Amino acid sequence: VGRALARLLLDRQEILSRRYGLELRVTAILTGSHGFLMDDAGADLRSCLSSPALPERGEPPPIRSWPADVLVEITPLNVATGQPALTVMREALKAGMDVVTANKGPIAHGFHTLTALAQEHGRSLRFEAAVADNLPLFNLVRAALPAVELRSVRGIFNSTTNYLLSEVSRGAAFETAMARAQELGIMERDPSHDLHGWDAAVKAVIINNVLLGGALKPADVDRQPVNGEVAALARGAALDGKRVRMMSTISVGEARWEAATLGPADPFYAVDGFSLGAEIVTDVAGRLVISLHDPHVEQTAYALLADIIDVVGHQGQ
Ligand SMILES: NC(=O)c1ccc[n+]([C@@H]2O[C@H](COP(=O)([O-])OP(=O)(O)OC[C@H]3O[C@@H](n4cnc5c(N)ncnc54)[C@H](OP(=O)(O)O)[C@@H]3O)[C@@H](O)[C@H]2O)c1
Repeated sequence: VGRALARLLLDRQEILSRRYGLELRVTAILTGSHGFLMDDAGADLRSCLSSPALPERGEPPPIRSWPADVLVEITPLNVATGQPALTVMREALKAGMDVVTANKGPIAHGFHTLTALAQEHGRSLRFEAAVADNLPLFNLVRAALPAVELRSVRGIFNSTTNYLLSEVSRGAAFETAMARAQELGIMERDPSHDLHGWDAAVKAVIINNVLLGGALKPADVDRQPVNGEVAALARGAALDGKRVRMMSTISVGEARWEAATLGPADPFYAVDGFSLGAEIVTDVAGRLVISLHDPHVEQTAYALLADIIDVVGHQGQ
């Protein structure tokens, strides 16, 4: 995701400048094992992308000394605690930075405390990329649905299992589809995050806690693992002209992730392969259905960029 964001920042430089008068500089990059870089003048992203590692080694300086207005947090998901991202994001907000993330963990575990901290320090917290790449779920609700109460959200939020079941229903063996997903690099570092529904559970918690006012934890979400049994269900449904989808169903204080057999009239029937979709049921604004066709890591990076543009636009207001 970090590399895709670097490529996108280079690609969009001219548009950012022409449309928004924005010149975004990457003044620091930190990794787990590939070193770090600090440069007030802005890193040369082309040279970073072509190098196997960053120039500095050892312990990076504390966050409060980083020369940055915005922290972009994209370390791996920690389902159990959201750490170390949660601590890093707290430190950044306290140091007066806005925070943009694609990492679900800290939002699932710390949305309420991070929001309070952001408000206290007059900063913004944005995480559109954490749930469904650039499918605009939170930004849609914030920008286009004022004064509504959300009743429930239903959707396909895990593209890896949607891809697996789509492949199986087209005749692939479950093991072959798994191997292909791993080859494509679309699985989380830990495959159980996808197959045992932890990725979907963390996303359901975020939707619940952010949009429906709940206080769930990932362990509160009922999860049906995706295995040979679900694959057989998908294969059988295909013979009847139906499709099996791993659906997240989230209402106030309650969330589950389970296989559902859908006919062609269901809006999620067409959400195939890597695609993602959400249905938002509101009290006065009706029922909205949105989908994102076949997203890749470039769309995750785009969601980060859109959030960065948004928070930078609000700086100093
Ligand atoms: N891939 C997607 O399409 C996608 C979509 C939506 C959301 N996300 C989320 O975005 C995040 C990044 O995903 P990814 O696919 O880019 O993961 P990734 O390939 O595993 O990359 C994670 C990056 O974080 C660095 N890192 C690990 N531990 C760190 C630490 N303690 N301090 C600083 N840096 C650290 C890693 O550096 P080293 O390599 O040196 O360890 C690596 O650069 C995850 O939270 C993921 O759930 C990903």
